[in-house]
Amino acid sequence: MAIIGSNILYAQRLLEASGAVAVPTETVYGLAANAYDEAAVLKIFDIKQRPSFDPLIVHTSSLEQIEKFVKKLPEKALKLAYRFWPGPLTLVLEKKMTIPNVVTSGLSSVAVRVPQHALILQLLRQLDFPLAAPSANPFGYISPTTPQHVQQQLGTQIPYILDGGACTVGIESTIVGFEVGKPIIYRLGGVCLEDIERTVGPVRISHQGGNSPQAPGMLANHYAPKKPLVVGEMPVLLAQHATQQVGILVFQQPCPDIALDRQVILAPTGNLNEASQNLFAALRTLDVLPIDVILATFVPNTGIGRAINDRLKKAATHLVDY
Ligand code: TXA
Ligand code: MG
Repeated sequence: MAIIGSNILYAQRLLEASGAVAVPTETVYGLAANAYDEAAVLKIFDIKQRPSFDPLIVHTSSLEQIEKFVKKLPEKALKLAYRFWPGPLTLVLEKKMTIPNVVTSGLSSVAVRVPQHALILQLLRQLDFPLAAPSANPFGYISPTTPQHVQQQLGTQIPYILDGGACTVGIESTIVGFEVGKPIIYRLGGVCLEDIERTVGPVRISHQGGNSPQAPGMLANHYAPKKPLVVGEMPVLLAQHATQQVGILVFQQPCPDIALDRQVILAPTGNLNEASQNLFAALRTLDVLPIDVILATFVPNTGIGRAINDRLKKAATHLVDY
């Protein structure tokens, strides 16, 4: 199994020797490797069983660093970077040759992000290369938000998990690209739509799908637990699944008809940030209960609630009454 610890220097040594190391960020844990080192990057794809067409995010310690990897920064990209970095925002920009094609799956753009977590920021400052890092989960499964989540799934394949505690945002970064200078959201995430629009004006949300989407985070059945997950109105869902063993995921109020050990309440106070922090751990908890199906309700579709609902939709085997 992997060692779980908070030794930044040890993580640095492993990364300098072409290793893959799990690292904390404010969104989810990442599986990191030297972005300049093709062999190291290939290890990430191998460990995650990730298809080579799905490009990685490059993490760096400051806005100043990104001129090493990107050709130009549209004005609105700069505004977003100033406003939200370090933070849960990823910008897709035209890449320089410094970033190998394996990182970007051959695309001419690269996704870059300055994460907001003291440990990874310190690690990045000590390294003389950026870190390519996808979420540290097997491809298609729920992203990890604690070191233990990483250990459970990738522990036998990696030497070290840098322990930064539970992720405070709990949901992946918002991905923003630029099409003829206009911002477009490829994936909803930790920075909400309202905050992005307050910074750069109206923004389009891409709904592109298919086998090679702009952001494969948009693929159906991504972020999914192993148990079937159905999302909709709880009374309807309960009636439809009356003959099955169910576990339920609710936003604020417990469901009176279901045993408390078969339900997870995302945010008893109704706070959407608390809900996003708890979402992936809740799905993991439900996934290992002795149940046939997970039933879930959507949360209020505002602020980070949009990103939560987006993940529920992608994790769902089907939706009812949506
Ligand atoms: O919060 C996050 O973004 C976390 C932490 C570790 O930083 N990372 C993460 O990485 O969620 P990953 O690989 O699980 O998701 C990255 C998404 C993928 O859907 C990928 O297709 C998209 O970013 N992406 C990467 N490079 C891209 C590019 N050049 N153009 C469009 N989409 C890109
Ligand atoms: Mg992922």
